[in-house]
Amino acid sequence: MRRERRKSQKSRWLFFCDLCETFASSAFKNPRCFMNLLEVNNLSLQFRTRSGTVQALEDVSLSIDKGETVGLVGESGSGKSVLSYAVLGLSDAAARVTQGTATFDGLDLLAASERDLQDIRGREVSMIFQNPKVALNPIRKVGHQLQDVLARHTTTLRADLATRAIECLAEMKIPDPTRRYHAYPFELSGGLCQRVMIALALACGPKLLIADEPTTGLDVTTQAAIMALIREKARATGMTTLLITHDLGLARAQCDRIVVMHAGHVVESARTEVLFNAPQHPYTRQLIGATPVGRAALSELTAVRGSLPDLRRTDLPACRFSQRCDFYSDACAKPLPSIVDGGHLVRCHHPLVLECVA
Ligand SMILES: Nc1ncnc2c1ncn2[C@@H]1O[C@H](COP(=O)(O)OP(=O)(O)O)[C@@H](O)[C@H]1O
Ligand code: SF4
Ligand SMILES: [Mg+2]
Repeated sequence: MRRERRKSQKSRWLFFCDLCETFASSAFKNPRCFMNLLEVNNLSLQFRTRSGTVQALEDVSLSIDKGETVGLVGESGSGKSVLSYAVLGLSDAAARVTQGTATFDGLDLLAASERDLQDIRGREVSMIFQNPKVALNPIRKVGHQLQDVLARHTTTLRADLATRAIECLAEMKIPDPTRRYHAYPFELSGGLCQRVMIALALACGPKLLIADEPTTGLDVTTQAAIMALIREKARATGMTTLLITHDLGLARAQCDRIVVMHAGHVVESARTEVLFNAPQHPYTRQLIGATPVGRAALSELTAVRGSLPDLRRTDLPACRFSQRCDFYSDACAKPLPSIVDGGHLVRCHHPLVLECVA
């Protein structure tokens, strides 16, 4: 809370809050200032399919503070994308939330109307999808797609839409933005499509950006350039970022905090340096062991053993990592505990003792 005070019309002193960017009559009046931007509590979600019910998320909790960059990591199939779609109300028709809550800036996302969600998506929360060639409209010029977003969510005058759309392309360092404005997605390379996707996501200055595997399939140089663009924007505007990736190295380089998912469970979350130096969950430890760090030789890397359990099983164990774990004991059949120590959460009956791994 900035100590800036102004006289209101009724001659009362008002305090300006940097976080919610509003004036309040008391320094501690607005409870939204003290809320996390995104808060998911005990969320469970299943898909009804012909071959059975997929228990895609179970008891998932996650919170993201304003301005933070949080990494959501885990193998493919852990539930990272399902979680982000559920939060944005974009889940498949077969999906059903069976318990839990999700709030964005104080708004109950699971109870919000489709109209409210449409207002929030694009303007307040934006998403970069995993595959830009699929996410972009193939029969509409990229400039026109940008104009559509600007017209829907901003107050840009109709006469200025094209200029602003070209500016958005230029901000993403797309060469020759005026020519690219008239291009169709199939005329652009994968890297350029990804930049267009990011331009669309950032056009309205969202409070929260959800980037789902934003650099998968791109070469290392383009990957670094794209992550630099996102970071630059986040720094300049105070944007909060949820970076979804299976690449632990990328998450380590980009994120303040990391949340680890395995088979629909959040198993650990901690500040990045704490998670890498002292992972407490056996799965996190195996993931880190499989991640190249610095100049580590390939022979030093170890693959994560086994595979994810079939989430259609009706007899899924309380700990979904149990069949891959070296530390299994009878206690592991009991419901998972949530052990929290100074912001470090681990959901395991036998958390590993602190030791330096990386
Ligand atoms: N529409 C769907 N119908 C049935 N199962 C689904 C559907 N979408 C996702 N799943 C299942 O949910 C689990 C998590 O998927 P996902 O969130 O895409 O994983 P990832 O962590 O790779 O993003 C997977 O087992 C996947 O098969
Ligand atoms: S709860 Fe038990 S089986 Fe699961 S990760 Fe911890 S030690 Fe391993
Ligand atoms: Mg995914």
